[in-house]
Amino acid sequence: MKLFDVYALQEIELSSANGAYLYDQHHQRYLDFYGGHAVISIGHNHPHWQERIQTQMDKISFYSNSVILPIQKELAEKLGPISQKEDYALFLCNSGAEANENALKLASFHNGRSKVVAFSKSFHGRTSLAVSVTDNPTIVAPVNKNHQIIFLPFNDEEALASCFEKEGGHIAAVIIEGIQGVGGIRVATTSFLRLIRSLCTKHQSIYIADSVQCGYGRSGDFFSHDYAGVAADIYSVAKGMGNGFPVAGILIHPMFKPKIGMLGTTFGGNPLACAAALAVLEVIEQEQLLDHVKKIGTVLQQSLQTIPAISNTLRGRGLMIGFDVPPNIPDLKKTLLDNYKIFVGDAKPNTIRLLPALNISHHEIGLLTDALTNIYNTH
Ligand SMILES: Cc1ncc(COP(=O)(O)O)c(C=O)c1O
Repeated sequence: MKLFDVYALQEIELSSANGAYLYDQHHQRYLDFYGGHAVISIGHNHPHWQERIQTQMDKISFYSNSVILPIQKELAEKLGPISQKEDYALFLCNSGAEANENALKLASFHNGRSKVVAFSKSFHGRTSLAVSVTDNPTIVAPVNKNHQIIFLPFNDEEALASCFEKEGGHIAAVIIEGIQGVGGIRVATTSFLRLIRSLCTKHQSIYIADSVQCGYGRSGDFFSHDYAGVAADIYSVAKGMGNGFPVAGILIHPMFKPKIGMLGTTFGGNPLACAAALAVLEVIEQEQLLDHVKKIGTVLQQSLQTIPAISNTLRGRGLMIGFDVPPNIPDLKKTLLDNYKIFVGDAKPNTIRLLPALNISHHEIGLLTDALTNIYNTH
């Protein structure tokens, strides 16, 4: 059997990883400023993460959500104070798309409505409802097109207000990334998030903060949305939550009342996934990574600002940073990989996305900045 060929692959076979570094089959070392789509939060193969998973494996690796799994409670109790959402409830699942799917479903169960507001350049996943709120028609199949989605321009307060004036009573939810990732590192403005909050409250719609990529400390706040000083009704989390172990979830405001059977999953919240997620939170706490991200994120931005052709489009917060590449530098991502052995991400049409592990150091920032300075100086 061969693999179903849906990925644009880079010609590299990785065989091991440690901290901020990856190694291929020829022992070539690569610096990772992308974390495999923003997934690596505490560094590759962090020893505490490895040990936490191994210890759990020695006890019990899996049972379904038909028995009490105490490690799920332990995870929820740890996540509450770190995320500052102690009164929210946690539903565990397996991926970002599934988290958003459940968030949207829960919103609709709650207020009995079907319309959802989403924004230009959004990315919320590839399952049915998640892909229908994603602003990319090329990945939406005809079978996903029967949902009632209203797309509005990102950060356009007038458009949002007028939409609620007309449709307010029918809108189940508004879903928004605090910092758009796939859309090219676009930060939602404080006033836009506050308007979403106040309109949702007024019209009894649900504010869903998609924190799959921008959450879990990546911006220096646990949730990038909370920078606006208002809380969402549901936060979806995935990616950095497990540092590579598949685990995701939604944090649910106490106004939602659970009913047996209303949401569910076979694998979600399995003991190994919970062990990985607990290890991540423990490391975030022990290594004071939220503070570190705030400081080192500033160092990263300041270093990049020394390159004039980067500084004018530099954007993002914490360790979720983007900039646009001018046309005279044809394939910066590939040049960094081939010539400097540095992994970065991109976003269409010409944005570089930097999403390193939250414990990245000055040294690695220096390596990236030196490489970029060299490339920009020779073009
Ligand atoms: C903001 C956001 N939401 C949802 C998803 C979907 O997550 P997953 O690929 O785990 O389904 C992604 C993935 O890139 C994302 O960036």
